[in-house]
Amino acid sequence: MKKDFIDIQDFSPEELFHFISLIETVKEATKARELPNLLHKASLAMIFEEPSTRTRVSFEVAMSNLGGHALYLRPGEIHLGARETIADTARVLSRMVDGIEARLLHHRDILELAEYSSVPVINGLTDLQHPTQVLSDVFTMYEHSGKVRGLNLTFVGDSTNVANSLMTIATKMGINYTQATPKKYQPLPELLKTAEENARKSGSLLQITEDVEDAVKEADFIYTDLWWWVGQEHEAEERLKAFMPRFQVNSRLLSLAPDHALVMHCLPASRGMEITDEVMDGERSIVFDQAENRLHTEEAILIALIYPRLKQPLTTENEIVRQRIENILSKFTY
Ligand code: CP
Repeated sequence: MKKDFIDIQDFSPEELFHFISLIETVKEATKARELPNLLHKASLAMIFEEPSTRTRVSFEVAMSNLGGHALYLRPGEIHLGARETIADTARVLSRMVDGIEARLLHHRDILELAEYSSVPVINGLTDLQHPTQVLSDVFTMYEHSGKVRGLNLTFVGDSTNVANSLMTIATKMGINYTQATPKKYQPLPELLKTAEENARKSGSLLQITEDVEDAVKEADFIYTDLWWWVGQEHEAEERLKAFMPRFQVNSRLLSLAPDHALVMHCLPASRGMEITDEVMDGERSIVFDQAENRLHTEEAILIALIYPRLKQPLTTENEIVRQRIENILSKFTY
């Protein structure tokens, strides 16, 4: 039975905490150059319908660090969607590679890719979700605060795919989630309903508001993202009117937050739009820690999904790290 990584909602809170432990372990091992070649001779197909810096590089380097190989597949280079259906592409790739990472325009397409693939499929961003980003972000918050449960996370801006996934992971893991967004751009009702249910179970506080000044008052972390993405350029003027200046993360907004509050952004950023240079380059910005942690998050996800499926017992350079990883993996219930 394969396990995909499509949506944070597909994982239990316990599994998400195991992922945090796994990321911590593999990050330490990678830094010490002691990460075992757990994916020796394994291959990952990486399909990108949209541009990417962090997701592409982190998955490719992660496969290399684990002794495997990654293939970068762009539209026009493979037949996906043009001369070959998603289902047939999934069937073919499944015969040749051990996992598929895909950044697709439409969330329904990654669900179809996963349905017809017999190897694990990892969502590298769709119009609705960005699960690998937010798992990495929770790890970054954990690194900076030493905890996860009870943190106050305030997202300021549009209900992007990152915001959707943040709302899900926060409410699953007991993080209090406040989102400050103009009325018209607030989360989809079905996603909000799921988050409310998560929050009821985890004890998280969940608040969606237009009052951005109030939203940052108790924040441990303030997170923002682009105001428009590929395909939304024609809405730029209208969106600018809705978000600027109140929803910009700048020194004025930061001055209303607690002194210890740190600033996050998944990147790429539109400097001078949703975030100012002085905040992004300031002492309270952890945006490049977030970017770095994408690498270790992808390493952990690839290990968790692909390593247990490899048939050959692997010789590893570092048995101690391998045993620690095996111990965490044994706690996953899927
Ligand atoms: N945050 C993120 O996914 O960055 P890329 O678009 O560069 O992959």
